[in-house]
Amino acid sequence: MKDIQTIGVVGAGAMGRGIAQIAAQAGLTVRLYDTSADAVAAARESLRQTWDKLSQKGKLSAGQASAALERVVAAPNLEALADCQLVIEAIVERLDVKRELFAKLEAIVGADCILASNTSSLSITAIAAGCQQPGRVAGYHFFNPVPLMKVVEVIDGLRTDPAAGDVLAELARRMGHTPVRAKDMPGFIVNHAGRGMNIDGLRTAQEGVATFSQIDAIMREQAGFRMGPFELLDLTALDVSHPVMESIYRQFFDEPRFRPSPITTVRLAGGLVGRKAGEGFYVYQDGQKQVPAEPPVPAAKAGLKVWISPRHADGHARAAALLRTLGAEPVAAAKPPADALIVVTPFGEDVSTCVADQGLDAARTVGLDTLHAFEPTRRRTLMASPGTTAEWRDAAHALFAADGAPVTVVQDSAGFVAQRIVASIVNIACDIAQQGIATPEDIDLAVTLGLGYPAGPLTLGDELGSERILEILRNMQRVTGDMRYRPSLWLQRRVQLGMSLREAARG
Ligand SMILES: NC(=O)c1ccc[n+]([C@@H]2O[C@H](COP(=O)([O-])OP(=O)(O)OC[C@H]3O[C@@H](n4cnc5c(N)ncnc54)[C@H](O)[C@@H]3O)[C@@H](O)[C@H]2O)c1
Repeated sequence: MKDIQTIGVVGAGAMGRGIAQIAAQAGLTVRLYDTSADAVAAARESLRQTWDKLSQKGKLSAGQASAALERVVAAPNLEALADCQLVIEAIVERLDVKRELFAKLEAIVGADCILASNTSSLSITAIAAGCQQPGRVAGYHFFNPVPLMKVVEVIDGLRTDPAAGDVLAELARRMGHTPVRAKDMPGFIVNHAGRGMNIDGLRTAQEGVATFSQIDAIMREQAGFRMGPFELLDLTALDVSHPVMESIYRQFFDEPRFRPSPITTVRLAGGLVGRKAGEGFYVYQDGQKQVPAEPPVPAAKAGLKVWISPRHADGHARAAALLRTLGAEPVAAAKPPADALIVVTPFGEDVSTCVADQGLDAARTVGLDTLHAFEPTRRRTLMASPGTTAEWRDAAHALFAADGAPVTVVQDSAGFVAQRIVASIVNIACDIAQQGIATPEDIDLAVTLGLGYPAGPLTLGDELGSERILEILRNMQRVTGDMRYRPSLWLQRRVQLGMSLREAARG
């Protein structure tokens, strides 16, 4: 395997300087070129400051810091990249400009020099198609900020020589990054897998199920994610993420799973793009996110009787166990007594459907999400149908908050909030596996490292139960009639065959 010692980095912006940093720290010589000489000087100055800070913190010796800076050499022109064994471009995101750059580079570098693109949204095959040797062109997709986001997608275009990708993967490890390998498909792995959270979060808000901050709180405090969809969108900013949502949707020819929401179109038009603008889904004061106060817990209803629908055995058992920890005993009767609160525990259905299918009294019926185990510190989600009265909704709220656990009451939704978003995340990851874009192992690795999820989406599906995820999706599709919830064949077949979602075909 090729031993890379000297690389060229073209484009000295946010990404180029991050790539130069990790490469120089790994002992490589970096020739840094940008059409703007000022950009190269600014990049070297910012690297000098970064390494000064790292050496002050004792992470590098002063000698190592100055040696790293010496290894980042300003290239006055592209010709100065002639001795590079690899050139990584991180220039403007335009196919014509990237093609022109690679065509120029082919006339300068040696025949075995690898040309890599850091593009997030362009096809590697399309970039390579403008080259005389498309076999040497591969994607090398780093994430921002490069030194902290320790994963890189190595993308094989249709004509990429697999050996080029192998060299890039090995080099990534030398630079302290984890390589994942992906086929050239829109969004590669991370930007493809990330659709589930964003798109279904927006869909949930658009249906009027809950507010932005309620959805975020549920995803953090019930489902265990570090951030909810709207906090994440505020961080990346809509001027970046809205075009990505549109582009991936179009590139998959209007795949309903990726259908964007007009919510972001309108907010983008209004300049409410996120944290950097001081206002996005949240308002920021002095950089601090302002979260609307939660409604207070209502007063408990004296002498409340509770009947739990037996329709969903697992949900019933979990709800009954929770009720007992709260000091109440569910009424044991085949039908709900006329004066009892009715609790349903559906998976992927809304309360209205439970009421209609089971012949229940809508006024007294609320849903309880039992997908995640109950703990006093974990948020609980209750759901009301349009027919549930405030009196019974408040009685349920007080009851399930009696041990101090945070409770969010949402409006009727097939799949509450956490069920539907988590099921969408797992389903999209399953479909990435089904399309052979990456191995199950690399999908989980890429998502854990690239999106910071508590576990890879396929592992998450196995842990919550793939059968349960399939049930949620099928019910959501039936209730809403929306094809975005149709289960991936990867998921369906693994449930049918009792296989793990992480298991590739055995033959
Ligand atoms: N910023 C991100 O979060 C991120 C993440 C992953 C991938 N990417 C991709 O990385 C690439 C660079 O993104 P960025 O955020 O660093 O951009 P940036 O705007 O910060 O920097 C781009 C630099 O490229 C230079 N440049 C433009 N055209 C050039 C050319 N023809 N030749 C030489 N230099 C040229 C510009 O002067 C600028 O300094 C894009 O393809 C982008 O899609 C960005």
